[in-house]
Amino acid sequence: MKLKLAVLPGDGIGPEIMEQGVAVMEAVCEKFGHELTCKYAICGADAIDKVGDPFPEETFQACMEADAVLFASVGDPKFDNDPTAKVRPEQGLLAMRKKLGLFANIRPVETFDCLVHKSPLKTELVKGADFICIRELTGGMYFGEKYQDDEKAYDTNYYTRHEIERILRVAYDYARKRRRHLTVVDKANVLASSRLWRKVAQEIAPQYPDVATDYMYVDNAAMRMIQEPRFFDVIVTENTFGDILTDEGSCITGSMGLLPSASTGDHTPVFEPIHGSWPQAKGLNIANPLAQILSCAMLFEYFDLKEEGKLIREAVSASLDANVRTPEIQVEGGAKYGTKEVGAWIVDYIKKR
Ligand code: IPM
Ligand code: MN
Repeated sequence: MKLKLAVLPGDGIGPEIMEQGVAVMEAVCEKFGHELTCKYAICGADAIDKVGDPFPEETFQACMEADAVLFASVGDPKFDNDPTAKVRPEQGLLAMRKKLGLFANIRPVETFDCLVHKSPLKTELVKGADFICIRELTGGMYFGEKYQDDEKAYDTNYYTRHEIERILRVAYDYARKRRRHLTVVDKANVLASSRLWRKVAQEIAPQYPDVATDYMYVDNAAMRMIQEPRFFDVIVTENTFGDILTDEGSCITGSMGLLPSASTGDHTPVFEPIHGSWPQAKGLNIANPLAQILSCAMLFEYFDLKEEGKLIREAVSASLDANVRTPEIQVEGGAKYGTKEVGAWIVDYIKKR
């Protein structure tokens, strides 16, 4: 097929891991006879520095014209430590989500057997954990009415029935393709918004009799996730809870650098690692490119190109088994591989297959 990509490397380690992601895209497309075109566009702190806007109109247009967006990361410490900054790199990411209508964020939490010892949790708890978190991405506190002065501030956790129902349906569709177990995570014992979530969920659950639905408060879910991660199959939750729970989920796998994600909705889908821009590692060739590369696998799978996705996953697993790993997951005393070397090894594996 013809595949038109918008490529948004962003800030920090973004450009380095993106280089490897694009190399993998090119290798897979060449192998399977797909015609790939990449259009690069700026976002985040990079775009603020260049044009004063973290998600410029030109970047938005490039996204709208593409079949898919490959995104790396945004964020820069010079903004983090300045609460008075008028514009922040993260606003670029939020603008992209809102403007592309990306209401469904799919974040799989899968473990690799050879890495379970890297998890801070006990191996016997973590081994075999495999769930996905479906995070609502364009509503809730992130986008509700906000106010701030020097004495008071608030964010509104606003949700409509429509927003809740459509994300629940996405989650049920995933549950049907998996182990048919959906956990709806909310805080319905305290929050009105959560009570509407639970009401809507209870109304539509009977339409999916083949899926076992359960309901869990977010505090309890946070505990259960580390106590018994294998309990979960599909989790669906609101924007803020999903943000927090997926960072927690990343610990289960042993490295944040392993987790890809897909965001889908009204317009072009976006594929990106769940981790941030890790500015301290910028230019050091130590960032793990696997989350970016696995995001490419999700991209192919989104277009139902299963073999392409499978080959990438196979190459990633093979690189781990061969100990071709970035420092944070390297075996003790093992050879040193950087971002570039890991990417090149995977590209080579793909070419030779
Ligand atoms: C994420 C990130 C973003 C979020 C930030 C960078 C705005 O943490 O994708 O999880 O909070 O959604
Ligand atoms: Mn987050």
